[in-house]
Amino acid sequence: MTTDTASAIAHPNIALIKYWGNKDQKLRIPVNGSISFNLDSLFTKTKVTFDFSFQSDSLSINEQEISGPGLDRVVSFLDIVRGLAEKQLFARVESENNFPVGTGIASSASAFAALSLSASKAIGLSLTEKELSRLARRGSGSACRSIPEGFVEWFPGESDSNSYAQSIATPNHWNLVDIIAVVSIEHKKVGSTTGHELANSSPLQNARVRDTDHRLQIVRKAILEQDFLKMAEMVEMDSNIMHAVMMTSNPPLMYWESISITIMKTVKEWRAAGIPVCYTLDAGPNVHVITTKGYSDKIISMLPEIKGIKTIYKASVGGKTRLVED
Ligand code: PMV
Repeated sequence: MTTDTASAIAHPNIALIKYWGNKDQKLRIPVNGSISFNLDSLFTKTKVTFDFSFQSDSLSINEQEISGPGLDRVVSFLDIVRGLAEKQLFARVESENNFPVGTGIASSASAFAALSLSASKAIGLSLTEKELSRLARRGSGSACRSIPEGFVEWFPGESDSNSYAQSIATPNHWNLVDIIAVVSIEHKKVGSTTGHELANSSPLQNARVRDTDHRLQIVRKAILEQDFLKMAEMVEMDSNIMHAVMMTSNPPLMYWESISITIMKTVKEWRAAGIPVCYTLDAGPNVHVITTKGYSDKIISMLPEIKGIKTIYKASVGGKTRLVED
């Protein structure tokens, strides 16, 4: 038998305390720790087949053949997997997302988490969760947080061996919901890989990093104690401080649109009126509105009052990256 195949499913995640900037760009060792939760209703499913007859690696995403930088990134990642297995075999990678690519929802985390498990299994490796998280990190930093279940913390570490993510609470620990207000479907001009390289050019980055342990401690405790208000203040502060770094980088990165600011202000008003709700934004203008299950329908009915929101996605806290039948 010369063919080996495996399929895996992974969820994207939303960071409550953000990762922005690397100590080692190539190995994606971050300058600070981060905390996220997985998004259960969104997923990437990836099938990997290694076969002696293949002459090169190939990739399809949602049944479309991919070449250029998208394929190059996957080939570099497969090189790491081949190195670990000490096998020189080419792969066919077939990936699909249940959320349309180009909606502005980051798919690299779920993509590299699913690829880590399917590729390592297909080539004959049996990696532990920690090893899988370290491997996923090499494809996209935040992908390491999509490997374990539920609420997850990425310990920054100093080297490849100790930079990985671990679950701090199960998916059913706390019924948080992420309501994603998609305001733009444009592909971002500067992606996060380049963005991380620019972080140090901001005079604010050092201050952001210096204070991160304090923010991590508060959010970790708030999650464990299910204290929404404590979490909310820190989550918004952390998103704002990352965007302050982005805006003051050289060249500056301005991801917010005017509607993003309108949504942020509205969310703050809702919280002042007693609703457990807060916002956070990644490297894009879409706003992740975090609330609890009991309030999610109310938020979804109120959001369209803000004109200009294109689509809304809803996700509860999701499970870990796992193997599936093809
Ligand atoms: O994993 P990357 O390189 O796509 O970086 C993710 C960066 C942010 O989404 C902005 C923050 C985070 O922690 O997810």
